[in-house]
Amino acid sequence: MKTITLTRPDDWHIHVRNGAVLKTVLPHTARQFARAIIMPNLKPPVTTVAQALVYREEILQAIPDGMDFTPLMTLYLTAATSTEEIKKAAECSFVHAVKLYPAGATTNSDAGVGNIPAIYPLLAALERYGLPLLVHGEVTDEGCDIFDRERVFIERHLSDIAKNFPALRIVLEHVTTSEAVQFVESANTNIAATITPQHLLFNRNALLAGGIRPHHYCLPILKREQHRLALVAAATSGNPKFFLGTDSAPHLTALKETACGCAGCFSAPAALELYAEAFEKVGALDKLEGFASFYGADFYRLPRNSGSVTLAKSEWQIPAVCGEDDVAITPLKAGETLSWKLL
Ligand code: DOR
Ligand code: ZN
Repeated sequence: MKTITLTRPDDWHIHVRNGAVLKTVLPHTARQFARAIIMPNLKPPVTTVAQALVYREEILQAIPDGMDFTPLMTLYLTAATSTEEIKKAAECSFVHAVKLYPAGATTNSDAGVGNIPAIYPLLAALERYGLPLLVHGEVTDEGCDIFDRERVFIERHLSDIAKNFPALRIVLEHVTTSEAVQFVESANTNIAATITPQHLLFNRNALLAGGIRPHHYCLPILKREQHRLALVAAATSGNPKFFLGTDSAPHLTALKETACGCAGCFSAPAALELYAEAFEKVGALDKLEGFASFYGADFYRLPRNSGSVTLAKSEWQIPAVCGEDDVAITPLKAGETLSWKLL
């Protein structure tokens, strides 16, 4: 059987929620990844080191026996965040970044930042204390076409942030456009990006293939084929500025399959296999290890993992649903057959 073995990978952007959903989704990630950057957009958001400590404890309790997994915590930036809190976060051992959500841009972002220039003193503190800034890069004005929101955010906000804080390490999360790829490529080495499996595998047609497909709806939304091609080229280029971040974002099936469905693709059950499919399609499986296992760790200044995982060329079916009745969550590509399987 054809196999590929990689150094154990990490997921540099994931939502695992809390409570019953956390217990349902976390084993899928812990099985594949050694570490993951945990998004802080809970209700209420994780805005302090003390809250991150409590959330981290809940995640540790949800790791199945025998699995070795480390959650890397983040704080949710608000207009009320203090520079003292940022200093505290930088000094503690378990908070690894701070997340900027423009207010209203996505799920649980109401407490996010409305006036970006007003938080420049906080960005200065992040730069000073060496804590990375993770960015949901979309403008929120109603007048901006949803397919343009990432490009406009880069033009209107991110270029200025990068200019004003050249030593600030920034991850432009879940990039979806050729403009984002170009921005990251031409920026200094402090600026990197994560790429999701859905943005490598699908273009925006997948939202409306024979009918509305709520499980393909995430934010930033899927874009045109030309953008997908730019993302695939970036992910498979061997450029260490681009690394794996699934943005796996579970929502109950009932909250996706409804008149106003939530944004987010639950990719965790087959995350690594989905990336393997995308890389194999362009003959770039040899580039998967750098993307999945090395570049993110290097950017976050953490040691690369020891140990390995092996994928075999072997067909299997993604389950139709994960979790018990009251926490039923539909995975990305539910019920479909994949050709790579994690052993
Ligand atoms: O599709 C998304 N879902 N995009 C985000 O930025 C947030 C996420 C979520 O938390 O559900
Ligand atoms: Zn996310």
